[in-house]
Amino acid sequence: MNRTHRAGADMRVAILGFGNVGRALARLLAAEGDRPAGRAGTSFLVTGICTRTRGTLIRPEGVDLVRALDSIEREGLLPGAEALFPSTPARSTAERFILECPADIVVEATTLDARTAEPATTHIMAALSAGKHVVTANKGPVAWHFRQLEASARANGVRLLFESTVMDGAPVFNMARRCLRGCSILGFRGILNSTTNLVLDLMEEGATLEDGLAKAREMGIAEADPSLDVEGWDAVLKTTILATVLMDSHLSPAEVHREGMVGLDPARLDAARNAGRVLKLLCEADGTGARVRLAELPRTHPFSIVRGTSSALTIATDLMGEITIFEDDPGPIQTAYGILADMIEIAEGN
Ligand SMILES: NC(=O)c1ccc[n+]([C@@H]2O[C@H](COP(=O)([O-])OP(=O)(O)OC[C@H]3O[C@@H](n4cnc5c(N)ncnc54)[C@H](OP(=O)(O)O)[C@@H]3O)[C@@H](O)[C@H]2O)c1
Repeated sequence: MNRTHRAGADMRVAILGFGNVGRALARLLAAEGDRPAGRAGTSFLVTGICTRTRGTLIRPEGVDLVRALDSIEREGLLPGAEALFPSTPARSTAERFILECPADIVVEATTLDARTAEPATTHIMAALSAGKHVVTANKGPVAWHFRQLEASARANGVRLLFESTVMDGAPVFNMARRCLRGCSILGFRGILNSTTNLVLDLMEEGATLEDGLAKAREMGIAEADPSLDVEGWDAVLKTTILATVLMDSHLSPAEVHREGMVGLDPARLDAARNAGRVLKLLCEADGTGARVRLAELPRTHPFSIVRGTSSALTIATDLMGEITIFEDDPGPIQTAYGILADMIEIAEGN
């Protein structure tokens, strides 16, 4: 039995979505074992896992995470997963799982649909309405429906946290909430999409856009639908979330100017390099609006050293000037850490 399965665990967790992120979280929790997570000494017991096509498990006594990971990686299926919850006309399998899995926290890590934010928004609403805390890595619902979801969380006396939607586990929202009290955030600019940053680097070295995307997919960082990365949608969603949460803006993703890298002429990369510049997909917002655009930065710009899957965010404040966060070469484990940090925040009752 996995060492996290012990009586008296403080928080029960249902994992919805068991792809790169859900599995990375399971690996993190399995590795944590009996080491209490967080200052409050909280431990987490995973009581269920739900997927779209690989089965659904509910184990009130605790899922054996090592076995679940082994089975899904070898067989492509959760171990002993019954067709527990066939979907009905009224409710999907995932909604039934959310309602019936005994859990304090639902981790929403299903596939991103950038344009509709569904079915993830329905999942999150169902969990909040059932009085369960939600931690999500899914940008769609937060970018499109933050205020509605936040109101539901408040009405139901639970939390909705989403640190890993932007810069994986790097503390963006936690830093703003905890460490910039009394400051107003006036704007930001960042390199926030790992896939396009990696692809731009590889193209600069002579690869095609397709080669670059294949590499990103192999590393588990590209969206299931890679057009979301190259058309700039992922970056638009992150820009919207930052503007909404940090700057209290009322922008919708549709109002963020979007320039992706579809059809980017490699000659533009060469020209930038010859002029001592580097091409980056920049996300930015200020008093005049928000935009995602391909920008040529001088080699002396701090963002010019943000290579591959790394990312960076500069936040402009009234009292603290500019603060920059760099995240070096993250992978799914850093996303999982962002989820764990939110779970600890909830467990500590902050
Ligand atoms: N990968 C990253 O580094 C990263 C970083 C930050 C945020 N995110 C976000 O995290 C989320 C998950 O990313 P990922 O890379 O783990 O995706 P993924 O590998 O495609 O996995 C998605 C998982 O969700 C399940 N799923 C999809 N629709 C479902 C539904 N309707 N009901 C139940 N389960 C459903 C899938 O089931 P099947 O296995 O049956 O297909 C799969 O297990 C996405 O929203 C992504 O934007 C990812």
